Amino acid sequence: MKGGNMNKKVVDLLNQARAKELGAITQYMAQHYELEDKDFGKLASKLKETAIAEMKHAEKLAERILFLNGEPTSKPDAVAKKGQEITEMLKTDIALESEAIKMYNEAAVVCAAEKDQISKDLFEELLKDEEGHVDMFDNIKDHVDKLGASYLATLTG
Ligand SMILES: [Fe+2]
Ligand SMILES: [Fe+2]
Repeated sequence: MKGGNMNKKVVDLLNQARAKELGAITQYMAQHYELEDKDFGKLASKLKETAIAEMKHAEKLAERILFLNGEPTSKPDAVAKKGQEITEMLKTDIALESEAIKMYNEAAVVCAAEKDQISKDLFEELLKDEEGHVDMFDNIKDHVDKLGASYLATLTG
C-alpha cells in the first residue's frame, strides 16, 4: 500500500482542484482555438501556454490522489463558454483563476490541519502559478479596457 489509509477529506479537495484544472484546460483551449481563428495569434499563444500549465497542475494533482489511494476524477467542473468577445473571455479567465486561488488557499489550510504537508505544499505551489495567471489576465484586460482597438492590434499575428 502506497499512501496508507486514504484521507477522504484531502483526496476530495485534491479532486475538486483537479476538476477545476480540467475545467480551466477546456476553457483555455476553446479560447485558444477561437482566438487563433480570429487571427489574435499572440493572445491565442498565451491561452495555449496557460492551458498547458493547467495540464501540469491536473497531472500533479492526479499523482498525489493516486499516491493517497484515491481515484483521480476526469470530469471538468464546468462546461467551457464559447463565442465570447475578448473582454468577456478575460473576465471568464479572471473568475476561473480567482475561484481556484480561493479554493486552493482554503484547501492548504485544511491539509495543514489534516497534517498532510505534501498536499499543502502542492496547493501552495499551484497557488503561485494561479496568481501569475490572474495577474497576466488582469494586465491584458486593463490594457484592452484602456487602449481598446490599438492594444488589440498588438495581439494579432
Ligand atoms: Fe492550475
Ligand atoms: Fe491558472
